Amino acid sequence: MTKEIDWNNLGFGYVKTDYRYVSNYKDGSWDEGTLTTDDQITMSECACVLQYAQTCFEGLKAYTTANGDIVVFRPDLNAERLQSSCAGLEIPVVPKEKFLDAIHQVVKANKDFVPPYGTGATLYIRPYVFGKNAVIGVKPADEYEFRVFVTPVGPYFKGGVKPITIRVSDVDRAAPRGTGNIKAGLNYAMSLHNIVDAHNKGFDENMYLDPQTRTKVEETGGANFLFVTKDGTVVTPKSNSILPSITRRSLLYVAQHYCGLKVEEREVYFDEVKDFAECGLCGTAAVISPVGKIVDHGKEILFPSGMEEMGPVISKLRETLTGIQMGTIEAPEGWIQVI
Ligand code: PLP
Ligand code: COI
Repeated sequence: MTKEIDWNNLGFGYVKTDYRYVSNYKDGSWDEGTLTTDDQITMSECACVLQYAQTCFEGLKAYTTANGDIVVFRPDLNAERLQSSCAGLEIPVVPKEKFLDAIHQVVKANKDFVPPYGTGATLYIRPYVFGKNAVIGVKPADEYEFRVFVTPVGPYFKGGVKPITIRVSDVDRAAPRGTGNIKAGLNYAMSLHNIVDAHNKGFDENMYLDPQTRTKVEETGGANFLFVTKDGTVVTPKSNSILPSITRRSLLYVAQHYCGLKVEEREVYFDEVKDFAECGLCGTAAVISPVGKIVDHGKEILFPSGMEEMGPVISKLRETLTGIQMGTIEAPEGWIQVI
């Protein structure tokens, strides 16, 4: 029986579900892993994750399709990205099969929390790994925990799919040649003060520029950028210090192969942004959320698509991607795994 939740009015928040997956790494190997109902974690006060932030995570979603199946979207790519995050933080990699098995087990065990088709809500899946044993000299832990929990969610930005206003950030998200291209918890810790400050000043998000020259567009705290030129080309920033978004890779494919649009992944100078027709933020949580306005120290860029409606290209991309995820549009081979 599907749980009694007001699916249509869910925000992007944590709702405790029935089961989560836990596996421990000790003496050089991962144990088999198991489901548990216990949502609490007990560990040393000196755990490496608590002292030195040795943790990374993933985010993906499960959906109820139009014909009632429960599916997950491209989890193999999240498994691969978690492996590169682990490698960057000296965390033992989680084998791909173990990651996929954990996702399948947790979603299946919590199937009553997967929002029904048509509600606009989805089941957000959060896999993560952290260094668990006591470490006081700066070095990696020897023992780790890999966990996966799920939580039903609505839209990431308040107001659903209405265009948002973002500001150009004065601080950087990632160092040049730093950790911006992996999904390390530390990247998000350093963005917390800046997002609170942005919200206090009436902005929905921060636009980060490249940390080396501060002339090129990078990404926001939790999503990549897509722009649309006036002649309908989809443009997205190329950089070594942004997270390689799975949603972005999927949208670029959709733009090219389903919508017949030209796509360009290249350096995008902030000076060019005023000439684009549309702007969106893409990510698992954000899907593709329209940006109506960018404020750069009092100077405003208002996109022609305005503050009321999504622009036509972003709207088409969103419709097509969510159609693929919800099973109303045929997916490219391998994108959808049925639970
Ligand atoms: N960039 C950042 C900083 C993110 O946190 C996310 C979210 O995962 C993304 C981009 C989008 O990545 P994906 O589409 O794989 O969710
Ligand atoms: C995701 O989209 O999965 C993310 O990790 C973004 C997060 C900041 C909610």
